[in-house]
Amino acid sequence: MKRREFLSTTLAVAAAGALSRPTRAAEGLVEVLLDEPIGEIAPELHGQFTEHIGEVVYGGIWVGEDSTVPNIGGIRKALVERLRQLRVPVIRWPGGCFADTYNWRDGIGPRAQRPVRTNFWDNTAQLREAPAGPEKYDPNTFGTAEFMRFCRLCGAQPYVAVNVRSQTPLDFDEWVEYCNSPAGSTTLARTRAGDGSDGPYNVLYWGIGNESWGCGGHFQPEEYSVEFRRFTVYVPDYGLKLRFIACGPGADWRNPATSWTRGFLENIVAKNPRILDTIYGLSMHYYCGTTGKGDSLDFTTDDWYEALWQADAMDPLITQHWLAMGDYDKDRKVKLVVDEWGAWHRSPVLGSEYLFSYIPSMRDALVTAITLDAFNRHAEKLAMCNDAQLVNNINTLFLAVEDRFVVTPIFHVFDMYKSHQGGRSVRVVCDAPTIPVRPAETAGNTHAEKEGRSLWGLGGSASLHGKTLVITVVNTSASESRETEVSLRGGSAKSAQATVLATSDIHAHNDFEHPDGVQPKAVPAEVSGSHFTWTFPPASVTKLELQLS
Ligand code: AHR
Repeated sequence: MKRREFLSTTLAVAAAGALSRPTRAAEGLVEVLLDEPIGEIAPELHGQFTEHIGEVVYGGIWVGEDSTVPNIGGIRKALVERLRQLRVPVIRWPGGCFADTYNWRDGIGPRAQRPVRTNFWDNTAQLREAPAGPEKYDPNTFGTAEFMRFCRLCGAQPYVAVNVRSQTPLDFDEWVEYCNSPAGSTTLARTRAGDGSDGPYNVLYWGIGNESWGCGGHFQPEEYSVEFRRFTVYVPDYGLKLRFIACGPGADWRNPATSWTRGFLENIVAKNPRILDTIYGLSMHYYCGTTGKGDSLDFTTDDWYEALWQADAMDPLITQHWLAMGDYDKDRKVKLVVDEWGAWHRSPVLGSEYLFSYIPSMRDALVTAITLDAFNRHAEKLAMCNDAQLVNNINTLFLAVEDRFVVTPIFHVFDMYKSHQGGRSVRVVCDAPTIPVRPAETAGNTHAEKEGRSLWGLGGSASLHGKTLVITVVNTSASESRETEVSLRGGSAKSAQATVLATSDIHAHNDFEHPDGVQPKAVPAEVSGSHFTWTFPPASVTKLELQLS
């Protein structure tokens, strides 16, 4: 049966604002190919990133045991509850750029005796304007033990970024010893016991430096490959298979250069190809947005499309770097780890000490959904991804100022998409009218980059969990809804639930005064069969959870 024929005959879906019109040709298509599996969606693709930067750690996570803000041993209680709701799988710490200046010994032992140190980010113009506080002079009250406790409270694995620029492999070995040596076995195990944990933390994920081509040491890839070897050979493992993550590229939509990826891998395998067995992942960082130029809430429709177009670059960036990796890693032992990503706009809005903070809008919710869909479509290549950053910073899920705490539209997308965790990603084909992307000056485009760009109208991903199929779809149009034919190849639905994140204003957001400005809605759906129509509202993120017969 031809597509247009069955449109006029098959079952329709009735949903709030989404009544089907089976006699009219749909203008969009979402086809799910159930027999074309891509790979398992590791829950770790929904990881988070926390750095000692601005008000992420101090103020965001750590409020102190004596605070009037409800806390669990000094850790913000509302944050823990929300992260448990998300089933956050892994949290990266302590940086970012901060990591390559961090002396982990400053953050162990009795809290009152820990030294106060100048924070890496104190050099920024914004923080120079800020009053003295923990974001400028780090009191080290949040150290390794506090981070591990935070992870345990949330049910997340810790992912620790190691200082390669200004510490030695011996310092790293001893950090592993502090974290992982058996109870009572070493001096550092006894220090750990004094810090609250007799037993080891069994930390598996260790990032060897951060942005080693930049703030992490300005290394050349061949120099970094030597450092990677020095840091990872003969690390005490205490019976664990440690998962070392090598520093990879800072990817850019303007220039998807794979030179760092190639340079590092070429040099590391030249010495001994078997080292690939010890590299769990190669990291990649990619930020989109209007860094330093565009306001997070005051933007034009052109800016909207520009940001979504930039977010979509995650997909080819993964492919390009994966292809480059394959030239050196024929057996595909090393996976990609996108351990920093997000939309970055002008800041601050909460105060000068809130470095890189802004109030996210629906635009950032769609950036997030586009990115998480891209991760699903590349599930077989990715081991972990970490949103930058968890609270009060860049692509933030939460805003937290003293006792005020609010979830952003980005949080809602993570909450919707958690249904994909652990599922088997299957191929999705989408078709809808494309949208021209006109120049947006705030994005720093050059003339050449302004010409002839367009963005897809509908995009998404799908995952199978036994007899449950989860489909997520983004409608990028700022103004047009899309009546769409949804087609299940190799399956048939018997019931469905729908969740829709949509607002009439693309600038909609949540703040302390309006915590519910953006909220997902459960939408009734009656679905059966292999084909149905669904109308995706403008500027929306939709999740369809289908029970298959
Ligand atoms: O996330 C903020 C900063 O961006 C990180 O510290 C650094 O790794 C990146 O450049």
